Amino acid sequence: MSRLFTPFSLGPVELPNRVVVSPMCQYSANDGVPGDWHLHHLMQFGYSGAGLVMVEATGVERRGRITHGCLGLYSDDCEAALSRIINSVRRVSGSTRFGIQLAHAGRKASANVPWVNAGAPLGDGEDPWKTVGPSAVPFGEGWHIPEALDEKGIERTTAAFVDAALRAARIGFDVVEVHAAHGYLLHEFLSPLSNFRQDSYGGSLESRMRFPLNIVRAVRAAVPREVVVGARITGSDWDEKGLGPEDAVLFARELKSLGAGYVCVSSGGILPSIRVPSTPGYNVPIAAKVKGEAGVPVRAVGMIVTPEQAEEVVAAGKADLVCMARAFLDNPRWVWHAAELLGASAHYPLQYARAKRSLWPGAEIARPFKPGNHD
Ligand SMILES: Cc1cc2nc3c(=O)[nH]c(=O)nc-3n(C[C@H](O)[C@H](O)[C@H](O)COP(=O)(O)O)c2cc1C
Repeated sequence: MSRLFTPFSLGPVELPNRVVVSPMCQYSANDGVPGDWHLHHLMQFGYSGAGLVMVEATGVERRGRITHGCLGLYSDDCEAALSRIINSVRRVSGSTRFGIQLAHAGRKASANVPWVNAGAPLGDGEDPWKTVGPSAVPFGEGWHIPEALDEKGIERTTAAFVDAALRAARIGFDVVEVHAAHGYLLHEFLSPLSNFRQDSYGGSLESRMRFPLNIVRAVRAAVPREVVVGARITGSDWDEKGLGPEDAVLFARELKSLGAGYVCVSSGGILPSIRVPSTPGYNVPIAAKVKGEAGVPVRAVGMIVTPEQAEEVVAAGKADLVCMARAFLDNPRWVWHAAELLGASAHYPLQYARAKRSLWPGAEIARPFKPGNHD
């Protein structure tokens, strides 16, 4: 029996299976407000049969967006538009649940969308904005020099996360994920490669964790108990002077003690010079370590592509959930095909039922519908 297609209780939220659509920026919003592209993008995943669909990194404040096109949740307009889309998607989505990733891009903000100038920092005339970070040190050559957040800025950012989380809860998201990976603001505070502060937010790991943990604590306290609060964390900076799996375990333990319902173990992104070893399942060993040593539900991500691979990760107990990004962009029907391959079932819209491969003429698997009788 497939383990991938067994339900999973993420705290109070019941997922029909362990497949998660990873958060994926679409760079297609207007001042944070989603439109038709997002409706289409999320709709296809809404009826994909996945257990959980994560909405992309969503800026908690305007200056926390990566690009002018990034999704936001900092205004009534943002909330109304996203609410309309999620309500539409939910109407066709069976038992799939929905989450949103709340983010602040920190010193990697104020950049072009990836398909313009390869995502380089916005130049004069492209409406750049002042970025913020733990220290006044840019991401890399040519990047904006951020303003080091002072105590007031830290409070303001925490409040922005809480406001956005409340908006997410009002929209009806089941899961709110705090983005603490990929070189964005919270990861910048966590990593010794980007945090050079000498105050109580810098220095030891304990101090570097302070701001991200305060945010998770504040978000957890603000949203109703039935909303799961989790985090995407860094399993490794892939640099010996940076964060590693041991740090991920310690951070995950702290998150758990604050009531986080899960962590998603990702990695990389803190410096442009560092290469991530993108081999199949490259974060899975770190995810397994975090699961074993922090005792919190774990989602694994990174080059998990085939159904057999996803099944093995879950069946071997390396992670509770698997998360896929590019595989879903390539094939939004991934779950349907994986379920058939693994002899399991998943939500399949009745309107499309005749497309099930097991029903095609010549298919050897038993046919619950007779092709031709349903015209
Ligand atoms: C188009 C695209 C957009 C992405 N946007 C986000 C994002 O909003 N938040 C995030 O945490 N990761 C983001 N990622 C990273 C993915 O969620 C995922 O962690 C990464 O692609 C590795 O998984 P994969 O090998 O299944 O693609 C993005 C990836 C892609 C391809």
